Amino acid sequence: MHIPVLLKEAIEALDVQPGGRYIDCTVGGGGHAAAILEQSSPGGQLLGIDADPKAIEIARARLEAHSKSTLLINENFANLQAICIKYDFFPVHGILFDLGLSSLQLNNDERGFSFQHDAPLDMRLSPSQEVTAADIINTFSETELAHLIRTYGEERYSHKIAPYIVQQRPIQTTLHLAHILEQAIRGRRGRIHPATRTFQALRIAVNQELEHLEAALRQAVSLLGINGRLVVISYHSLEDRIVKQFTQREAKDCICPPGTLTCVCGHRASLRLISKKVITPAPAEIQLNPRSRSAKLRAAEHVITRNEQLFYHDIAESLRFPAGIEARGWRRPALVEKLRRTFVALQINNS
Ligand SMILES: C[S@@+](CC[C@H](N)C(=O)[O-])C[C@H]1O[C@@H](n2cnc3c(N)ncnc32)[C@H](O)[C@@H]1O
Repeated sequence: MHIPVLLKEAIEALDVQPGGRYIDCTVGGGGHAAAILEQSSPGGQLLGIDADPKAIEIARARLEAHSKSTLLINENFANLQAICIKYDFFPVHGILFDLGLSSLQLNNDERGFSFQHDAPLDMRLSPSQEVTAADIINTFSETELAHLIRTYGEERYSHKIAPYIVQQRPIQTTLHLAHILEQAIRGRRGRIHPATRTFQALRIAVNQELEHLEAALRQAVSLLGINGRLVVISYHSLEDRIVKQFTQREAKDCICPPGTLTCVCGHRASLRLISKKVITPAPAEIQLNPRSRSAKLRAAEHVITRNEQLFYHDIAESLRFPAGIEARGWRRPALVEKLRRTFVALQINNS
């Protein structure tokens, strides 16, 4: 079983309400999704996405009791906007990302995510992806490997590891690679296993995790209704940095370089940070589920920009709604939803 991380905190940050519509971009074992469906009942709806077809199977079984209100899609969240348009699932009240891998993938999988047991060096979330970890390990040059391991693994011994790997090629299995990494940085590693950072780097590269996260965050905001919530749980500093920088930037009305006298960027805040401080698991959760120890939760609320207000105003006029209707927010949800839907469609057409 995968134990959902920061479950109570995520549901609170999403502000799950009965009748609401939510997207779980990383449905995994369905833990967070089940809680969202329970809390949004009656009338709630959930779109669950996962790049791993096995995760979708598991989530389908776990969420069977809610099958009428759940739509599960085996896709990459990098295509979030296209998925939502295809299935007509927007605007939504909340979007959750619980990044990384589930315990089911780490512990039982044959795809080589973990160096604890032997498996082919694959690491693809979806069999439809082309490049495996073995392809990278066996074809990258020494310089490219060192760069990748340093950048995505934040491994300071990358310059020692890369030549070792190149000398020992071909390398096809997890335990073979783990053994080489132990040899390469023998005696230098403290608390964590010598393979930890290089395995992280390979997994990030194979699945283009950082690029997909950046793309999905941008799309997520355009799919949120007014006051809709964006909640992201990340497990390493590279992911958290992307989420932090994205939410902080989107929470600003001006992003001109410091010292600029008059704003020329035209940027307007589309998010309001719910909590300036990152949310982390309590000691009791870490004791119960050690995998949660590196988790960081950030949450923000979609705010309507001046441009959006103007759009809403124009749309409201053209649809013959009384002017100013947009300001009433969720108090007239059906109307606001209609406006929002039209707005998102216009935005998508324009982009
Ligand atoms: C930490 S698990 C989610 C666990 C889930 N919240 C639960 O409670 O069971 C992360 C999931 O995200 C999926 N995932 C990671 N990157 C993805 C991406 N770019 N697109 C879609 N799914 C992705 C993984 O396959 C994995 O199943």
